Amino acid sequence: CNGVNGLEKVVLREVRGSSAEVYLYGGQVTSWKNEHGEELLFISSKAICKPPKAIRGGIPICFPQFGSHGSLEQHGFARNRFWTIEAEPPPFPTNSSSKAFVDLILKPSEEDMKIWPHSFEFRLRITLGPGGDLMLTSRIRNTSTEGKPFTFTFAYHTYFSVSDISEVRVEGLETLDYLDNLQNKERFTEQGDAITFEAEVDKVYLSTPTKIAILDHEKKRTFVIRKDGLPDAVVWNPWDKKAKAMADFGDDEYKHMLCVEAAAVEKPITLKPGEEWRGRQELSAVPSSYCSGQ
Ligand code: BG6
Repeated sequence: CNGVNGLEKVVLREVRGSSAEVYLYGGQVTSWKNEHGEELLFISSKAICKPPKAIRGGIPICFPQFGSHGSLEQHGFARNRFWTIEAEPPPFPTNSSSKAFVDLILKPSEEDMKIWPHSFEFRLRITLGPGGDLMLTSRIRNTSTEGKPFTFTFAYHTYFSVSDISEVRVEGLETLDYLDNLQNKERFTEQGDAITFEAEVDKVYLSTPTKIAILDHEKKRTFVIRKDGLPDAVVWNPWDKKAKAMADFGDDEYKHMLCVEAAAVEKPITLKPGEEWRGRQELSAVPSSYCSGQ
C-alpha cells in the first residue's frame, strides 16, 4: 500500500531501525520491517487500498466472525471499517516498555448495529518492541446497556512474507486436530512431522501450543508467533488456482506468502454486558541459526 486514496496511516519506528505501518482503514498493519529495512509481511502488489474490501496482506483483523463460520460477511466487518486513534485508552494490564505503539478503537456504527446488533468497544494496541518484535493486543468489551450477551470468533489474519513456499516449514502444529476448510470443515488429525506445503491449504488447527514457528530456509529466517487467549491457528495458502481467481492477488504471489493466523474459531467467545476479552499475538523474526535446537 502506498498511502493511496488519502487513507490515513500511522508509522511506528523503533530506535534500532525497525518499523511498522498501520492503516486506520481496517485497523490493519500493512508493513513490518526489521532493522535492516527488510519487509517481513506480505502485501499483494495488487492490493486495493480503499473501501469497501479489506487490504490484501499485512494483518487484517477478523471480527466478529472468522471466515464463513456464521451468518455475517466473510471474516466479519472490522477489517473494512475505519478505526480511530484513542489518545487515552484505559490502562493495559501489561504495559510494555516500548514507546512505539498506537491505540486504536472501533465501535459499531448504526449500520453495523443493523447487521450485528451488539454494543461493543474494540481496543487494539499495536506495539513495536525494542528488538523489533510486533505485538498486537485486542480488548473487546460488551458495552450493552440492555443486558445482552454476544458471541464472536476472531483471528489475526497475518500474511507472512516467505522466500519460497515450497521451502518453508511450520513447527508446533504436528499431530494436532484440525478443521479442513477445503473439506466441509471436517475434522482430521495431522500426521507426521512439521508442516510443509505443496498444494492449497486452508486448515484451522485446534487447541495449539502458544508458540508456533515458521522456518524459511532460503531467507535463513524464523518467524516465531506467540499467542495468548487465542487457542486455534489457521494456516492458509491459496496456491495457483485460487490465486488466479482473486482479483487483488498476483498469479504467482502465493509462492511468497503464508498466512498463519492466531485465532479463536472452534469455541466462540461469549461476553456478558460489562465483560472484556483479551487476545494477544506477538511476532518476532530471528536469524535461523539463532533458533537451531529450540
Ligand atoms: C483464510 C480462510 O483465513 O482467509 C480462507 O481460512 C480464505 O478460507 C482466506 O479464503 C482469505 O479470505 P479473504 O476473504 O480475505 O479472501
